[in-house]
Amino acid sequence: MSHIAQLNVSFVRNVIGQSLTFSPSVNLLYGENGSGKTSLLEAIHLLATGRSFRNSKIDLIINHESDEAVIFAELGDGSKIGMSKPRRQNHQLHLQSEKQRNWDQVAKLLPVQILDSASFGLIEGGPKARRRYLDWGVFHVEQTFLANWRVTRKCLANRNFLLKQKPVDKNQISAWDVELVNASNLVDLARQTYFKQLVPQFDGVYRALGGSHVENIDIEYERGWDSDRELPSVFADNFRNDARYGFTQNGPHRADIFIKAGKSKAVDILSRGQQKILVSALKIAQGRLLSQSTERQTIYLVDDLPAELDSENRAAVMSNLIDLGGQIFITCVDRTAMEESLKSCPQLATFHVERGIITA
Ligand SMILES: Nc1ncnc2c1ncn2[C@@H]1O[C@H](COP(=O)(O)OP(=O)(O)OP(=O)(O)O)[C@@H](O)[C@H]1O
Ligand SMILES: [Mg+2]
Repeated sequence: MSHIAQLNVSFVRNVIGQSLTFSPSVNLLYGENGSGKTSLLEAIHLLATGRSFRNSKIDLIINHESDEAVIFAELGDGSKIGMSKPRRQNHQLHLQSEKQRNWDQVAKLLPVQILDSASFGLIEGGPKARRRYLDWGVFHVEQTFLANWRVTRKCLANRNFLLKQKPVDKNQISAWDVELVNASNLVDLARQTYFKQLVPQFDGVYRALGGSHVENIDIEYERGWDSDRELPSVFADNFRNDARYGFTQNGPHRADIFIKAGKSKAVDILSRGQQKILVSALKIAQGRLLSQSTERQTIYLVDDLPAELDSENRAAVMSNLIDLGGQIFITCVDRTAMEESLKSCPQLATFHVERGIITA
């Protein structure tokens, strides 16, 4: 089981230089607004994925007084991961002293899930967030998924480029379609297989969180094109429209998860708190599935969970997260309210955050 045992963070927002030893179980970070709690979660997320969950402009996380942010972690199994991000330059990523070209290996070692107010986007936002959610899971359980997904992206980029040319050359486009169809079917199959396993996990967690008393929720996978048609015939029928918009209308890049409450869309029915329970259930379900299928544990970054959840729901979410047995980082302003929800946690480590300084 890999957890972050040791973390060094330098010049990430207001966190100038910190060396921290973490619990393999729950790590509670508390402190006033603007003290640096989310910044620490951001540092972990950045190291694990190469992305911030707050903003796509990574340079914004580099401390104003510095030209470079540096993050280093030692995992429970002794693996060492280090990254630096100089301002206006590419990052450097190392795993066991070996330079990494991308995040593929590191992301596999550190499966992180974020649970924060923006996670609502999973229900109320567009399909992109739901695709990303789904693909997170598929990436972690299906070895070949990423390669196939990259092929679809490359083929789609070329196809869309050709669709924008005037006049459109149908033959040239068909040349890309063979590879695109093949990779799309593999991407779809991997997503379908994953989703089939995810549904019962989700149902179980949602029930455990008491959500099913409120509303019966169904989640359905939509692959991005008609479920009873082959992609080549969809491309053939769509050709005029594709050429008109200069964009491929259907394919795995349009996949989605339809989240239904009874007969309606969940977003139209559920309260904010109920949506948060639903999002928590979706995210916990992925952690459960990951640990069952790969024996790897998800690291949960929980930012300000108390917002919009009453104490009973907060305790239910926390106990389901703790039951997963992985590492959790959770931030809050009011320590006592949160500690009440964490009573059952055997290895709780508490950190006070104040003006970028984090003390155990
Ligand atoms: N690039 C930067 N350099 C220095 N400080 C920054 C930078 N970006 C943001 N900050 C500051 O870092 C501080 C920490 O922000 P952070 O979001 O981590 O606080 P927080 O503890 O999560 O607060 P809240 O409880 O309000 O969510 C803030 O005061 C913010 O203004
Ligand atoms: Mg915050």
